[in-house]
Order: sequence, then C-alpha cells, then structure tokens
Amino acid sequence: GWDAEVARDVIASHGATEGPLLPILHDLQSIFGHVPREAVPLLADALNLSRAEVHGVITFYHDFRAEPAGRHVLKLCQAEACQSMGARDLAEQLRRRLDIGLHETTADGRITVEPVYCLGNCACAPAAMADGELVGRIDAKRLDRIVDAMEA
Ligand code: FES
Repeated sequence: GWDAEVARDVIASHGATEGPLLPILHDLQSIFGHVPREAVPLLADALNLSRAEVHGVITFYHDFRAEPAGRHVLKLCQAEACQSMGARDLAEQLRRRLDIGLHETTADGRITVEPVYCLGNCACAPAAMADGELVGRIDAKRLDRIVDAMEA
C-alpha cells in the first residue's frame, strides 16, 4: 500500500543524485557549448557520484552534448507524429548528403545534426529546428534548401 515515508525516501534519493547535477550540466553547457569530458571526474567527485553515473545522465538527456557542436545545428524531430510523416526519410537524406548520422557533426565542423523528440509542432510535421528557428512541413526539397543555406 501507499507509504508516504517510502515515497519521501525515493524522492530524496533522486534529489541527492541528479538534483544538483542537472542545473550544473546546463550551466556548463551554456558556458562551454557542450559538457567537456574533463568535467565528468570533477562532477563525480563534487557530487559523490561515480563517473559512469555522471556520464549516464549526460547521455540520457538529449539536451546535453559531449562534443562541441558545429557552426550550424539542425535538430530533426524524430518523435511519433513526425515519424509518421517521413522524419526517418529526412534523417536518411541527411545521412546521404552530409555523410553523418543523428548526433554527429560534419568533418568540416559546419553542421551538427541532432534528433529531438517533439518540438510541439506536430500539426506541421515533419518538423525541425534550424539554428533555433522552427521549421515545419519539411520535405526533401525544403531540407535541401536548409542545408544549402547552412553550407553557404
Ligand atoms: Fe515532431 Fe511533435 S512529433 S513536432
């Protein structure tokens, strides 16, 4: 049955681990543009976590990146509504054109492609975020134009 004491313990145990970690990771990423590998042991020591735990949190949350991003960032929505409208084909199109997959950056450091899971723009699926700008109803042609602009 319900036990508030147990629930409190569960909540507290989470608070003690990921609580301060997330805001710190956000700060580090906004300062450095990514969460540098070198920060992991520092965080682990400071928060009494293992390095694996810190690394696990960084990779679990799609907002954090472990590598510096390219000059342009293209976030391609891969959540359900967008998938049903061809988001996977768009990812495949990018893979063919740029020779990179989701989570990767082109060799020249120009473009990073990242998956996102719903941009709140499902009515205009498939959706993407091109350098912070929301774009909807993307088809192959439109995607090519976005990449053209980033490569220009
Ligand atoms: Fe892509 Fe919602 S599923 S914007």
